[in-house]
Amino acid sequence: MVTTIGTNITLAASILANNQLVAIPTETVYGLAANALSSSAVSSIFEVKKRPFFNPLIVHVSCIEAIEQYAEIDTISLQLAQRFMPGPFTLLLPKKNIVPDIVTAGSSKVAIRVPNHGITLSLLQQLPFPIAAPSANIFGYVSPTTAEHVFDGLQNAIPYILDGGPCAIGVESTIVEVVNDTIIVHRTGGISVEEIKEVTNKKIITLQNKTKETPETPGQLMSHYATTIPLIIGDNIEQLIHQYKEKRIAIISLSNGYHHYPTIKTFPLSIHNNLKEAAANLFATMRLVDALDVEVILAEIFPQEGLGLAINDRLQRAQHLYKPIG
Ligand code: TXA
Ligand code: MG
Repeated sequence: MVTTIGTNITLAASILANNQLVAIPTETVYGLAANALSSSAVSSIFEVKKRPFFNPLIVHVSCIEAIEQYAEIDTISLQLAQRFMPGPFTLLLPKKNIVPDIVTAGSSKVAIRVPNHGITLSLLQQLPFPIAAPSANIFGYVSPTTAEHVFDGLQNAIPYILDGGPCAIGVESTIVEVVNDTIIVHRTGGISVEEIKEVTNKKIITLQNKTKETPETPGQLMSHYATTIPLIIGDNIEQLIHQYKEKRIAIISLSNGYHHYPTIKTFPLSIHNNLKEAAANLFATMRLVDALDVEVILAEIFPQEGLGLAINDRLQRAQHLYKPIG
């Protein structure tokens, strides 16, 4: 199958209506989309991504009003939706029967979001069904933030990539569930915990840094976002440089250029120390560094505030596979 990259929304809609897959731009990362109401279309997502079936998918809709066709929405969830949708924010809600079990991996809850990207919103408005879409990468690898990243991983496996330019946010959506007046953050992402706190006085619990290989809240596998070259994180990069001094090193940092190590290639994600800018550059930089002739990638631990939580979460998951190195 030849993969085309283009900006034809009508063509993308007709391919999806034909139960085939299209990669779509969102403000977070590119998604691998299928008709969410067709079990067979959704099953192709798992095949193409080589993703285990126990890992459920997010359903994307065009507006908040569309959510209630697919899920029951409570008052607090609705309040959060009104503040953060469209945007990098996903709600986990009790699903309605119309959503096929394959989408939720048999769970009675469905994850739903309204992406904030003009092209994909127009696409959703044209379609008579919602879209199920995980990130458009081969399972376990770094998520794509450009159409070219998608092409690198999925060329010849899907017919069409809808090109919406580089993703503005660059990390996945924050996944939230309201349980008995408590807000559970299942995945940190493009909306920070601080922003959620501004909207509500409910208790917020962040479920992060889980170490399970088979997650209870599915999908939060540790070995995710992994580069092919071993990636090690730490808050003392100088010490890590010393530890790995026999190896060819690249560094991912917030703003430090580590200029006193002229032979080490360093990639600051934001010279302005801006965590939003850093998040937007994270995955593209991980891919870039992964293509270099180095033996180990060292990454700083980012400040644990704002989008720093999501950045650290992704780096920790990338590191997980390589813990034994040393
Ligand atoms: O920003 C995003 O959310 C991107 C774009 C494409 O929308 N999508 C994305 O999808 O990151 P994916 O499949 O890579 O990650 C979705 C996460 C997984 O960790 C999955 O387990 C969780 O959402 N999830 C989806 N449905 C769920 C459900 N019913 N119950 C629990 N977790 C769910
Ligand atoms: Mg993913």
